[in-house]
Amino acid sequence: MNDRVIWPASMGALTRFEAHGWRVHATQEVSYEVRQIDGIFSLDSPELIACGRAQPCLRQAIVIDARVDQLYGEEMRAYYAHHGVEVSILSLSVSEETKDLDAAMTIARHLESAGVLRRSEPVVAIGGGVLLDLVGFAAGLYRRGIPYVKVPTNAMALWDAAVGIKTAVNALDRRNRLGSYHAPTVALLDRSFLSTVESRELSNGMGELLKLAVIKSPRLFDLLERHSEMLLLTRFQDGIVAPEVIGLAVEGMLEELAPNLWELTLDRCVDFGHSFAPLVEMKALPELLHGEAVALDVLFSCRLARARGLLADQDVRRVVRVMKSMQLPLRHRFFEQPGLLQEALADTMRHRDGRQRLPLPDGIGACRFVNDVDADAIRIAAEEMAHADA
Ligand SMILES: NC(=O)c1ccc[n+]([C@@H]2O[C@H](COP(=O)([O-])OP(=O)(O)OC[C@H]3O[C@@H](n4cnc5c(N)ncnc54)[C@H](O)[C@@H]3O)[C@@H](O)[C@H]2O)c1
Repeated sequence: MNDRVIWPASMGALTRFEAHGWRVHATQEVSYEVRQIDGIFSLDSPELIACGRAQPCLRQAIVIDARVDQLYGEEMRAYYAHHGVEVSILSLSVSEETKDLDAAMTIARHLESAGVLRRSEPVVAIGGGVLLDLVGFAAGLYRRGIPYVKVPTNAMALWDAAVGIKTAVNALDRRNRLGSYHAPTVALLDRSFLSTVESRELSNGMGELLKLAVIKSPRLFDLLERHSEMLLLTRFQDGIVAPEVIGLAVEGMLEELAPNLWELTLDRCVDFGHSFAPLVEMKALPELLHGEAVALDVLFSCRLARARGLLADQDVRRVVRVMKSMQLPLRHRFFEQPGLLQEALADTMRHRDGRQRLPLPDGIGACRFVNDVDADAIRIAAEEMAHADA
């Protein structure tokens, strides 16, 4: 029997085939905004009242990182009181060690007790990457998905965790093993939060800037080479370089994410720095922060690239200098252990469906994928890591 289309529509279709078979075909449009803004809690700022919607949102469930609440809670409450918004606030202590299903359940309970409407009252997440991932995860599960708004307050969150649509919790002894794709309504990026971030956390976030610059953006690399020390010193509060650096990083990330939101293509250049780091980081917890492990992976991968003639000695030295100016570690004993690094790559290959798909820089600011890095190449690069300044 011929297929018979029962109901074609722009967003879905139903087809009957043979006598008792039906096929449903549906597509879902994803659209969200990322905006760089100043003074999110200034009384005249409309962003958090609108929450990315056409109408003001006058009842809001908010989940805020407890540390951020200590620092900005008073300002935030004054902002909402000024605008007459009814708020239910959950102030949550978070850390990588407690980024788990229990924490997501605490958030779900908060949404339940706040009685949020299913479509018109986005949950507002204010915090670092851990908090944003947790709230995105809970919002994606609660009633099978309700809208949410990301307000990143930490460096890594500002140009990485807030920009994409991935959510996750740590589980099964692995980082981010349970997760989903759940796009926010809007991500509001206000770099003034960085003024209270600890130096090590800033350096940690800069590890992701380094990654993006080396693999994708010569202009960003150039800015980081010239200004990293100043950016650290001023906590990204200067009005010229910091907005450009953040803007380049966010746009670079979005250029890579937007055509591949659900990671159907596993050759992803934004995975640079995330090939060996995940396992190393897990084994080194809490010694190494995520961005520190990423930066070490970047350096290790640059050494692999140099051995293949993709980078010059001079380029590797430039990367080392930028890492120094970002106050990132240049050495860690795990990056000097070939056996562990091979195990890390094998684990990553499972995530990349059985192939290495290793992004390597092809000159500073360009990317190529390789699939034939062998034990010898890893051993030689690991030996070089023991002489970080070379
Ligand atoms: N979903 C994604 O695409 C994505 C991308 C990158 C990272 N991540 C996740 O992000 C997490 C790392 O994020 P993170 O580095 O922001 O860590 P984090 O959220 O643990 O924040 C680090 C510390 O900074 C504090 N903090 C946050 N904002 C502050 C501020 N303005 N002033 C002072 N202190 C502040 C927090 O309380 C915390 O103690 C990881 O779990 C990682 O998996 C997710």
